[in-house]
Amino acid sequence: PSMFEGLQLPATFDAHVHLRSGIMMEAVVSTIRDGGADMVYVMPNLVPPITTVEACLEYRQKLQDLEPNVTFLMSLYLCSALTPNVIVEAKKAGIKGVKSYPAGVTTNSDSGVLDYKSFYPVLAAMEKEDLLLNLHGECPSSADVTVLNAEEAFLPTLGMLHRDFPNLRIVLEHCTTAKAIEAVKSYGPTVSGTITAHHLSLIVDDWAGDSFNYCKPVAKTPQDRIALLKAAASGDPKFFFGSDSAPHSTQAKQGSHISKAAAGIFTQPICTQLVLDALEQGCQEGILNEEQLTHKILAGFLSEHGRHFYQEPMSSSHLILGAGQNIQIPDLIPVDNRMVAIAPFRKGQRTRSLGWL
Ligand code: NCD
Ligand code: DOR
Ligand code: ZN
Ligand code: ZN
Repeated sequence: PSMFEGLQLPATFDAHVHLRSGIMMEAVVSTIRDGGADMVYVMPNLVPPITTVEACLEYRQKLQDLEPNVTFLMSLYLCSALTPNVIVEAKKAGIKGVKSYPAGVTTNSDSGVLDYKSFYPVLAAMEKEDLLLNLHGECPSSADVTVLNAEEAFLPTLGMLHRDFPNLRIVLEHCTTAKAIEAVKSYGPTVSGTITAHHLSLIVDDWAGDSFNYCKPVAKTPQDRIALLKAAASGDPKFFFGSDSAPHSTQAKQGSHISKAAAGIFTQPICTQLVLDALEQGCQEGILNEEQLTHKILAGFLSEHGRHFYQEPMSSSHLILGAGQNIQIPDLIPVDNRMVAIAPFRKGQRTRSLGWL
C-alpha cells in the first residue's frame, strides 16, 4: 500500500481560506469538503473588505447557506473603521478575529495597515475580548525590502506586538521562512503560525516564470522549505495548517501588459491531500522520515492544534485516505458556464483520494 493509505484522520481545520464573493464564492465553497475540511477560518479581503460586524455576519450567513456541513469562523479586516467598540460587538457576534494586511503587500490590501501603533487601542480591546490577531507578516517593499526578505523584515513587528500585548493570541499567517519558524517558536504560547500546503513544496524557482505558482508571501529557498516541513512534522502545537487557498480567474493569474499577475494559489479542493503529498515527498527526499509521521503528528497539524488555538471543539468527523496517485487534479474548475475558471495547484497531476467516514 502507498504511504498513508487507509489512514483515518479527524476532519481538517483549514485556518486560512479565501472564499471570495458572488459566483467565485459559490464555486469555491462547494469544494471545501472535497479537500477534507469541516471548519475554516475565512479571510475578510473582499472588495470592499469586511470591516463591519453586520457585513461579516451577512457573509457568514451566505457561506453557511451554501454549505451547512462546514463551520465558518469569521474575521474582520484591520483598518481605521475598526474601533474598540466594534471589537466588543464582534466578540458578542461570535466573530473570532481580525486580519491585518500591511498596506499594499497583496491582493486587496490597499486599505491595510501603515502603522501598528495607531491601532494599539483596537489591539488592546482585542486582547481584552480575546479576539485573535492574524498577521499577514510582510513589510511593504522599499529601498531595503523586496518580496524575498519581506517576511524576515516583519518579524521585529511580530515581536513588538507580542511584547506589548502578551495575552493577545497572534497567528503569524503562512510562514515561509526558517526565520519565521524560529521567531514563532521563541515566543510564548499566545503566538502561533500557520503553514500552507503549497509552501511545503514550492521554492523560488517554481514561481519565477510561472505565475500560477505565484503567491504572497512568495515561496523562498530550499532551506526555508525544509524548515516548514520540519515544523509541520514536529508535533509542536504552535504550528498548524492554513491553506491560504486563494482563487483567481485564469485571466487574473496570467496577468497582461496592463496588469500584473494576481498573487494566490488555489488549493481548497485538495488541500489535505496536498499536505500529505508534500510530507511524503519530504520523506522521499530524506528531509523527514516515515516513522516520524504518526497519526498524532498528522492529526495535530491538520486538525487539532488549530482548533485548540482557536478554542473550538475537536471534530467528530473523520476522513479516510485513499491510495496515492489515484485521482487526477483537474486542469480547470469552472466558475460560470462561459469564460471564468480557476486553475488549481498542481493541475493535471495525480494525488491521493480522500473519503468521509
Ligand atoms: C519602538 C517600540 O519598541 O515600541 N521602539 C522603541 O521604542 N525602541 C518601535 C516602534 O515604535 O515601532
Ligand atoms: O497569495 C496571496 N493571495 N496572498 C495573500 O495574502 C492574499 C491572497 C489573495 O487574497 O489572493
Ligand atoms: Zn496573507
Ligand atoms: Zn491569505
